[in-house]
Amino acid sequence: MLRFAAMPPTSPTVLIDQDELSARIVALAQEIRHDLPAGQVHLICVLKGAFLFLGDLIRNMEGHVTIDFMACSSYGAGTSSSGEVRLSKDLDVGIEGRDVIIVEDIVDTGLTLHYLQEILQARGPRSLRTACLLSKPSRRKIDVKVDYIGFTIEDKFVVGYGLDYSEQYRNLPYIGVLD
Ligand code: IMP
Ligand code: MG
Repeated sequence: MLRFAAMPPTSPTVLIDQDELSARIVALAQEIRHDLPAGQVHLICVLKGAFLFLGDLIRNMEGHVTIDFMACSSYGAGTSSSGEVRLSKDLDVGIEGRDVIIVEDIVDTGLTLHYLQEILQARGPRSLRTACLLSKPSRRKIDVKVDYIGFTIEDKFVVGYGLDYSEQYRNLPYIGVLD
């Protein structure tokens, strides 16, 4: 059974506010549609962290859009990576011949994304791209291609707008830093 940690006492400091998030996500949605002007775009949300990003992204995309969900974990309950990626929920439908976008909350070491790209590429999509809201390039352990990046940030542990610390803070409408 999942256990939820007690809410730590500090309030996160705002790093990216709601207005900055919305403006950037509108631009990303337009950029994706510009690159895939015709046909259906199939977005794969990596749970749980990317769920709000996916919601805002698709509300700003025109044309035909379908979604699916995957879950994997590389983190325990804290802020340091175990280095091991595990798939805990697979897609509901196949992606063969589709134009697929992986929608991730944050690319840190790159291990999770690398794993996802490998297993999804093997399923024969027509195209496979990745959109991540946040990227921490200084933390990379593996070189992964990210086609759309919302914001590049420093090596700080961030929460809010879907991202958690021990399952807390996902509900914050902004990206914050725990001091
Ligand atoms: P990676 O495999 O090291 O790139 O880690 C990717 C996953 O770790 C992300 O999808 C997040 O779920 C989590 N993660 C990495 N950095 C942070 C952070 O600063 N805040 C919250 N979650 C993070
Ligand atoms: Mg994630």
